[in-house]
Amino acid sequence: MRNKKTIIISNRLPLRVERRDGELHFIPSEGGLATGLGSIYQQEGNIWVGWPGFVPENEQEEILTRAKLAELNLVPVFLTEEELQGYYEGFSNEVLWPIFHYRLSYAVYNTDNWHIYQQVNRKFAEAVNEQQPGDKDDVWIHDYQLMLLPQMVREQHPSMAIGYFQHIPFPPDEVFRCIPWRDELIKGLLGADLIAFHTYNDTQHFLNACTHLLGLPIQNNCLHVDGRSVYAEVYPMGIDFDKFSQLAKSAAIQERSREIKNYYKNRKFILCIDRLDYSKGIIERLQAYESLLQEHPELREKIVLYQLVVPSRDTVPQYRLLRDEIDRAVGHINSIYGMNEWQPIAYYYNSFPLEELSALYVAADVCLVTSIRDGMNLVCKEYVASKEDNPGVLVLSELAGASKELLEAIQVNPNSIDQIRQALKQAIEMPEDEQQRRMQDSIEIVRKFNVRHWVKIFFNRLHEIKSLQKQEMARRVRSEVKDSISKAYREAKKRLFFLDYDGTLIGFHKDADAASPTESLYRTLELLQSNPANQIVIISGRPHETLERWFGKKDYFLVAEHGAWSNYPEHHWHGKNHISTRWKIPVKHIMNKFANRTAGAIVEEKTYSLAWHYRKAQNGLGQLRSQELVDSLRYLIPDHGLQLLMGDKVIEVKSSELNKGKAAMEVVAHYKPDFIFAIGDDATDEDMFLELPEEAITVKVGNKKSAAQYYVESQEEAVSLIDYFATENLDETSADNNNAHFQKL
Ligand code: UDP
Ligand code: G6P
Repeated sequence: MRNKKTIIISNRLPLRVERRDGELHFIPSEGGLATGLGSIYQQEGNIWVGWPGFVPENEQEEILTRAKLAELNLVPVFLTEEELQGYYEGFSNEVLWPIFHYRLSYAVYNTDNWHIYQQVNRKFAEAVNEQQPGDKDDVWIHDYQLMLLPQMVREQHPSMAIGYFQHIPFPPDEVFRCIPWRDELIKGLLGADLIAFHTYNDTQHFLNACTHLLGLPIQNNCLHVDGRSVYAEVYPMGIDFDKFSQLAKSAAIQERSREIKNYYKNRKFILCIDRLDYSKGIIERLQAYESLLQEHPELREKIVLYQLVVPSRDTVPQYRLLRDEIDRAVGHINSIYGMNEWQPIAYYYNSFPLEELSALYVAADVCLVTSIRDGMNLVCKEYVASKEDNPGVLVLSELAGASKELLEAIQVNPNSIDQIRQALKQAIEMPEDEQQRRMQDSIEIVRKFNVRHWVKIFFNRLHEIKSLQKQEMARRVRSEVKDSISKAYREAKKRLFFLDYDGTLIGFHKDADAASPTESLYRTLELLQSNPANQIVIISGRPHETLERWFGKKDYFLVAEHGAWSNYPEHHWHGKNHISTRWKIPVKHIMNKFANRTAGAIVEEKTYSLAWHYRKAQNGLGQLRSQELVDSLRYLIPDHGLQLLMGDKVIEVKSSELNKGKAAMEVVAHYKPDFIFAIGDDATDEDMFLELPEEAITVKVGNKKSAAQYYVESQEEAVSLIDYFATENLDETSADNNNAHFQKL
């Protein structure tokens, strides 16, 4: 039997191939994703699928036949120049990167690039397929270059565990919606079972985009997508703490670090390491450094800013412009403030080996990170992990994801030159005991939430979600469940069908009156009722006048206003007259107040209840006001013996003596059925599910938490289940026929 494996997929492999002097070289990739995961993926035969850097077509064979990548379980996806231009430079780095980093004006929308992005995501999906993943394998997709991939893999492998992690921020939905293809991008991500981000805000932004743009149902952090529960979580990425900490303590690195310090004449050493990127705030930082030298001439010659910029994406115009701008800014500062023996900035545009980075971290008195936006920023964590045995101060942008964890760093707003300048001064002058105390706190965080921990909690959750989905599947009405219900149905002689109306028999409309029964619904109900052993009960929160209008001429039992009114057995309406309605005056007053403040909200008065509807209110605002309304009403509830119900876009207050559970039990007592079926979609139906006898078949519409035994995914599925019983009437005795029907459904 084949072992379970994990397939990691990211745009970039942790190694890139380069040909120098005719020889192939395999060089570690830069960037948080590759460096963070690169040190730990090689376990238990895991595979990493990704792009190895540009390789001309005639050299690809050579890469494949060379053992190096295969030995490391790395599977290359080669991209043509056109694909790189459209998918990587054009769409990933000129639409997604700027928008996700809040640089709307840098975005270049180009439909051809979008098509190439789709095409390359498909190419990655094929590469995953070539690995012949089994249903027990896990797939872990990384980052914004592959947002469509989760759904593409899902289509091929419906039950596979698929996780997605986004290493960059997720912007607020109002920013995200600027992208013309935003719906497709979210739908692509929703192929995953677990979608995780570095920070709480990123996760909330993503969830808002799902509900506001796609109108998906959501419960806390769980979205319901095509019958699957998909979870969004916050898992800030860590680093390989031990690797950095041990390197920093090694004799060789200590020695190299001393050399660096000596070279810079033991001046206060301020370290900045960034990929070339406008999101890193390099220009702002240089401005702040210049203003420090200007305002504090006494610091000149006593400090040095070591700026390492790692070349990145320099085929994208904005990156080339930035590189030139940095060159100019560094040249300007060095020429104005520099002296014979002292250059204020040591600037390197290069990529360094890990050992050199480690020596720099050890040598640095201050590490300065001023990202304007950063998903996480691993450089600052690597600095912290290198500081177990030597002092140092971290100055950190509050707009980098890491700022949510490293609370003891000096945090700055990266757009404020003044704040950066002051923070630098504070860092340079910070007493050593304070440095140690603050650094110790950060070290503990970085040690505990290291990259292994991150991988572990991600996979634990992914597997937990898979088993939750399995449990849900068991509750879902599928053909096996229908089989067993059908058996009970056929054995029974007197059957009651409790059918909720809104959200069950008919979908929701903005206008409540527009949700009247359709011809096809009438046909289904008639067919069900036509069997003399069946009795339909329409049990609804609607006023009795409405039910009378829609169903008054039918033989159904009607229960209106959650049981305040009913029309059986003699087919005329009677209400529960003894129930007090004095409470309506204060409640109506409060509801009206909130309706006056909320465009699109209305108050509906029924005989024994009041409902505050917000279906037509602005998305989000209605929700917010309804919560405030609930808070305001809460104190009235116990005094008047009331019940507050939170339905679908409606808050309803009624006497607690009335509920669908009690009403349903009254029908049961009167009718004495030997088969009970109840179906409904919202909180008011829960009373019915709870109170009906254990043997009743209870079905919730929508996969929300419920006391019902089973659930169907949607209102349409609810009607088709009822239709299934109705059709069963046509040929109750023929089991073969019934089975054919199960298959069909
Ligand atoms: N890095 C590198 N070579 C260098 C300089 C930096 O590999 O010459 C690594 C650095 O150690 C860190 C990563 O690049 O792990 C940068 O990650 P970060 O999260 O800070 O920023 P990103 O590049 O992901 O935006
Ligand atoms: C960031 C992104 C990664 C990307 C890295 C380097 O860390 O989150 O997805 O790989 O930058 O960028 P590059 O474009 O060179 O792959």
